[in-house]
Amino acid sequence: MSRTQEGLEGIKATSTRLSLVDGTAGRLILAGYDVESIAPRAKFEEMAHLFWFGRLPDKEDLESLKRDLASRRRLPIATSTLLRDAAKTSTPVMDAVRMAVSTLSLGRREAPEEEARTLLAAFPTIVGEYWHLTNRREPLEPRGDLSHAEYCLYQVLGGSPKEIDRERTRGLETYLNTVCDHGLNASTFAARVIVSTHSDLVSAITGAVGALKGPLHGGAPGPALDMVREIASPDRAEQVITAKLLRGERLMGFGHRVYRTRDPRADVLAAAAGKFYATKGDRDFYALARQVEKTALRLLAEHRPERRLDTNVEFYTALLLHGLGLPKELFTATFAVARVLGWTAHCLEQLRQGRLIRPDAEYIGPVGLAFQPVSTTTAPN
Ligand code: SDX
Repeated sequence: MSRTQEGLEGIKATSTRLSLVDGTAGRLILAGYDVESIAPRAKFEEMAHLFWFGRLPDKEDLESLKRDLASRRRLPIATSTLLRDAAKTSTPVMDAVRMAVSTLSLGRREAPEEEARTLLAAFPTIVGEYWHLTNRREPLEPRGDLSHAEYCLYQVLGGSPKEIDRERTRGLETYLNTVCDHGLNASTFAARVIVSTHSDLVSAITGAVGALKGPLHGGAPGPALDMVREIASPDRAEQVITAKLLRGERLMGFGHRVYRTRDPRADVLAAAAGKFYATKGDRDFYALARQVEKTALRLLAEHRPERRLDTNVEFYTALLLHGLGLPKELFTATFAVARVLGWTAHCLEQLRQGRLIRPDAEYIGPVGLAFQPVSTTTAPN
């Protein structure tokens, strides 16, 4: 009888050409390129072309993809109406995003490759519209003259004093590229399972959003930022973190199912954050976060000497997105804006080459019970 592997840890469920997550070496390859080499330099539209077509675009491909994505930014009326209703009841952001995504197939039946483009283009508008509505402001008109990263910033920060400048755009684009795909993480696996039944991409991405929302997966950056703020000064790091660990709490932004060494994305985002904080952000806050990370790593090593708990992508996600001026309530939604590229690419790959995903489970319940219906006659007095 084969042994069950809780959480499918270490199980290779399929083969993919999209990303290699090497947990031993601490290496991430995105469709052939090391994350360090491509993420800080590529346009997000270049990443989209690479993941959907297996190669970087030439100038013409790039311009045509940019135009096509820009033409798909406006939401169906039903989606905007749902977001308006969700804002009236203060629905959590990721719940609103999940509900909005599920309405995108209203009134349209697109081929999977078209659905992928519609989904990628719509996410920044969904997140931006909802953010304005929950802050009692009218949503901004979608714009077709901005790149994907500029449009993300416009949708969330547009109309605010924080102008959309080159450094801010580069910082966000590096983030979007860094986290766009990461092997069979929980939300990507959820999407692949759904589309492996030959269901549609809107259903698959709706399920993926539900998985990403969890604090063990995409919900960590907000609490990671809260921890740095709670510590507030380097000399409090030891006391606050020790208390958390003694309470059995997990430090958000640390530990990983696959990486048994430092998550390579942490350094890519730390460098992007460092560059940004050096010119625009709050340098003291950046220095505090670096100190908090050092203390957390030391205390985690003492707390769990048998298990390497290193910085993961979320710690510097929090620092970078905060530095770019994004509200922490949108950190997980911004993760989704990036990861919808990986989700759609995995769905297209699954549709091209995959089989129905249907693992087994070891039954440990009782067998051979004799069924007795509930007696419905009333016993004589
Ligand atoms: C992402 O899979 C991916 O690729 C995900 C991701 C992606 O790009 O899609 O990389 C994005 O999800 C990053 C992870 C974001 N989450 C967090 O930062 C939340 C805090 N970290 C964890 O809860 C935890 O490390 C996980 C969930 C990320 C991984 O956990 P595992 O591999 O399932 O390990 P585990 O839960 O079995 O933990 C083993 C032990 C436990 O102790 P016991 O319960 O056995 O006593 O290590 C402890 C854990 O309590 N532990 C931690 C810890 N992480 C694990 N203790 C304190 N702080 C932590 N962060």
